[in-house]
Amino acid sequence: MSDKALVRVEHLNVFFPVRGGLPFEKKKQVEAVCDMTFEIRQGETFGLIGESGCGKTTLANAILGMRPPTSGKVFFKGQDLYALKGKDFKALRRDMQMIFQDPLSSLNPRFDVLDIISEPMQIRGGFSEEEMEARTVELLEMVGLSKEDLHRHPSDFSGGQRQRIGIARAISLHPAFLVCDEPVSALDVSVHAQILNLLMRLQKELGMTYLFISHNLAVVKSICSHMIVMYLGKAMEWGPTDKIYKNPVHPYTRALLDAVLDIDVDNKKEKKLIQGELPSPIDPPKGCRFCTRCEYATEKCRTEAPPTVKVEPGHYCACHFAEGCVSEA
Ligand SMILES: Nc1ncnc2c1ncn2[C@@H]1O[C@H](COP(=O)(O)OP(=O)(O)OP(=O)(O)O)[C@@H](O)[C@H]1O
Ligand SMILES: [Mg+2]
Repeated sequence: MSDKALVRVEHLNVFFPVRGGLPFEKKKQVEAVCDMTFEIRQGETFGLIGESGCGKTTLANAILGMRPPTSGKVFFKGQDLYALKGKDFKALRRDMQMIFQDPLSSLNPRFDVLDIISEPMQIRGGFSEEEMEARTVELLEMVGLSKEDLHRHPSDFSGGQRQRIGIARAISLHPAFLVCDEPVSALDVSVHAQILNLLMRLQKELGMTYLFISHNLAVVKSICSHMIVMYLGKAMEWGPTDKIYKNPVHPYTRALLDAVLDIDVDNKKEKKLIQGELPSPIDPPKGCRFCTRCEYATEKCRTEAPPTVKVEPGHYCACHFAEGCVSEA
């Protein structure tokens, strides 16, 4: 683990058993996260990109101590998270928080704003009622709301305001690490920039490290220093964001980028959009997991797992054909 790493994930697997099936049949499992290894450095925003169902939330939950992995390790601040028990586990867990995709369903509708934001303080204990209220007002002001909102309920707010409440709650105990699981995708486009700017400002003010999960490549490009492109539980391409955008190597990364550029109607370049559906993670394709949708796939791709190829310093790709793209720097 490098000195600068806040989080390190090592060969992480999260599989879910599939119920049912006949007694003599081999038990099946959903391979939601498969052999993921990476580091998130102190103070950075690390992007995780991939289609719906590829395992992003499952991976985030495993990093946050909420989903014990089938195998592999998660280190947070140099400590093996799942080797800790009781109080030690809880204390480390408290330093990691999550902002959810849908602020309405993640906030208890019967609670007022004071109850919602002060709940983590109540659970931790050691705060008087006055201290909790004063801290809640301070947090509300940090996220662009005010004291007048203390006794309103989630249904009284707009989507963007609700997400601000979710952010205030997540930062109430001053965590070192925040997972933002598609924090703007359920919101009106007009408030995306406001919420992202708020997250960026808070990161600077509080010195937090972010894992930012998104479908939106433009957002990841603008705020993330490193990223992973994930497909069906596995990492396809990873490294510094600027290098991946400048020199995408994996056919899946290229297709994702082409899909974004597709909005540009004047661009006459031929688009290679991804065809078909994401295959089932219960019985993922042998060899490269992307082979059923890759226009370049050969027999080797269908039978052999791809090697990890170093494209350039820090930039890696898991593809049988990546070696042809290595720049002789
Ligand atoms: N508790 C569970 N039991 C069984 N399968 C699960 C469970 N949680 C997730 N899965 C499966 O694991 C896979 C990954 O799901 P996950 O929610 O992590 O995807 P995601 O990338 O976050 O998708 P989205 O972008 O839609 O949020 C999916 O096939 C999902 O059905
Ligand atoms: Mg998800």
